[in-house]
Amino acid sequence: MKPNTIAIIGTQWGDEGKGKVVHFLSRNADYIVRYQGGNNAGHTVVFNGKEHILHLVPSGILENKKCVISNGVVIDPEALYQEVMFLRSQGIKINKENLFISEQAHIILPYHKYLDAIKEKTQRIGTTQKGIGPCYADKYARVGIRVCDYLEEDTFRSLVEKNIEEKYPLISEFISKKALLKQIFEQHKKYSKFIKQFVTNTTNLLIKVINENKKVIFESAQGTLLDVEFGSYPYVTSSHPTVGGISIGTGLPPSYISKVIGVAKAYTTRVGEGPFPTEIKSKLQDILREQGKEYGATTGRPRRCGWFDSIVVKHAIKINGIKELVLTKLDCLRNIHPLKICVAYKYKNKIYYDFPTSRKLQWLVKPIYKTFPGFSEDINSISNYQSLPKNVKNYIEAIEHFCGVKIKMISLGRDRNETIFK
Ligand code: IMO
Ligand code: MG
Repeated sequence: MKPNTIAIIGTQWGDEGKGKVVHFLSRNADYIVRYQGGNNAGHTVVFNGKEHILHLVPSGILENKKCVISNGVVIDPEALYQEVMFLRSQGIKINKENLFISEQAHIILPYHKYLDAIKEKTQRIGTTQKGIGPCYADKYARVGIRVCDYLEEDTFRSLVEKNIEEKYPLISEFISKKALLKQIFEQHKKYSKFIKQFVTNTTNLLIKVINENKKVIFESAQGTLLDVEFGSYPYVTSSHPTVGGISIGTGLPPSYISKVIGVAKAYTTRVGEGPFPTEIKSKLQDILREQGKEYGATTGRPRRCGWFDSIVVKHAIKINGIKELVLTKLDCLRNIHPLKICVAYKYKNKIYYDFPTSRKLQWLVKPIYKTFPGFSEDINSISNYQSLPKNVKNYIEAIEHFCGVKIKMISLGRDRNETIFK
């Protein structure tokens, strides 16, 4: 029996519109799983005319689906508590029957956020300052604190005390040691009881439900170019948004991932520092940002905007084994003439068709563009592919041509109904 599972993967630098796609597909799903990242993610979903921004809780919660935060995620207990309380205040039901949290996930503590701020002074990645990198660093340095450790008071205390000894000298400019410990233990008292109700062995749960042929969606956060292994290193996040992250991030064997769908925005954005070959360097960048409402859902920062980069998306297609794409936010390109698609990079008379590994090359390559006529029509209310204006179809088909995979779904506006199947 083929497992009834789909992975939804970001093919650019995050913010591709994964939340809307997952929300759309979750109507027919049983379980939605977040397998990496943390509350650095910001998944905006418009539902019943209301905008919801999800950070840690999978987008399927809006459809009252069963949601899993698996072992590969890093959890800030305070952020989780606030998100759950906020969603509940919006009338969304969250309880131990529909939210399952791995006992193995690592916990973000206040010192991780201070360390993130300290690192940023010298490293300048433009992180979300949520403590994500320092928390994953602790995991790999084998000093991390997992949910199961958090729930054992004595284990938690002794791990915190050991960690503080090592980390406090680095962050002493922010807070006194006494105040930091007080903050950590007060939070622990409040949130450990809250988290406990949701905690389980999510690997066992997922294997069981997949074997029962339940439909499971894996919702990635961030995108392939932010993957710590396959992204624009070092300007990346500290986890694996790529499909390989699912296996390690859930405990499911790779054979349990049946289908991989890539999500690509009709243009490119990135938040934070780092190379961005197709970044638009004129006033057009601001126009595109306004049309696409390209402001960070987590930090509110203006996103850098640029042309569609087929080198980036092809890299994601290759690494993730993507067989079909969802193209999002096409409507935001309205009235931009002409449109451009990057089809190769050039540096010193050499042409590159692969995303370069060298950080120097990533900064220095110049994009080679193909130009396409734009469109001025309002396409948001169009519901079938054939009715789209000719120039829009040409642009879509050019993306398919240069990326080498079919686009199966085209998402226009922010509302779930504004979606076309091709
Ligand atoms: P979603 O899921 C866009 C970026 C940050 C920074 C880098 C490292 O909404 O697509 P981190 O705080 O993770 O250590 O920051 O990664 N970044 C994102 N950019 N969308 C996201 O998530 C992001 N999560 C992290 O801006 O450049
Ligand atoms: Mg985001």
